Amino acid sequence: MTTDTSLSAVMRRRISTRAFLDTPVSEAEIRDLLDTARWAASGGNLQPWNVHVVAGEARQRVIDAVRARLQAAPFEDENEFGAYPNKLWEPYRTRRFELGEQMYKTIGIPREDKAGRLNHLLSNFEFFGAPVGIFFSLDKEMNPNQWGHLGMFIMALMLAAEEKGLATCAQEAWMTRHKTIATTLSLADDQRIWCGLALGHADPEAPVNSLRSERVKVEEFAVFDGF
Ligand SMILES: Cc1cc2nc3c(=O)[nH]c(=O)nc-3n(C[C@H](O)[C@H](O)[C@H](O)COP(=O)(O)O)c2cc1C
Repeated sequence: MTTDTSLSAVMRRRISTRAFLDTPVSEAEIRDLLDTARWAASGGNLQPWNVHVVAGEARQRVIDAVRARLQAAPFEDENEFGAYPNKLWEPYRTRRFELGEQMYKTIGIPREDKAGRLNHLLSNFEFFGAPVGIFFSLDKEMNPNQWGHLGMFIMALMLAAEEKGLATCAQEAWMTRHKTIATTLSLADDQRIWCGLALGHADPEAPVNSLRSERVKVEEFAVFDGF
């Protein structure tokens, strides 16, 4: 069976993978993905993205450092912006709620099982078992505009990975510990980590990877004017 690598097929196939095999991914493979993703567009061609790729010992160092912070200060949030607005409103609130319900349904963790849900949440901080982690940062002085451009770069990278049969999950979870990560990886003082990405080979047997999140129809978010 050949896999369709047309861009539209790759875009429709990509999902957030939350369970990985420990099959390693080589530095050469990651370099190749970044070499493709760097062609993402950015306003003024600033290319504001910086990436820090971790595997092996470096990956473990981040996991250990973040775990230590989580244990020392479980409710600490190093993220000064908040991942979401304080009180999400409709339709966003329901979309977020439903994603969570659908995801936990795949792994059979009901709402009452707070410890089970917390445990799954914590697996974010182990890259869901992926052998490679990537942290994306930009200069602290950049405007929200450039954060958007970094997002476009991340999407390009996720699609490049999907095309090569690799799986990803963008991870804003790391945001809550971005200072700990920056210190652990000795990032330059002018850098601000936005989020992380787990990258590797999907575990095809893992129920959580069966989740296919929903999308609203084009008619619900697009207005066609003047046609
Ligand atoms: C910037 C960004 C950050 C995300 N952070 C997390 C995260 O921390 N943990 C997680 O499990 N999923 C995370 N996701 C995955 C989203 O939940 C997912 O993209 C969304 O539900 C749509 O599903 P799909 O990617 O499978 O199509 C993130 C996605 C993006 C784009």
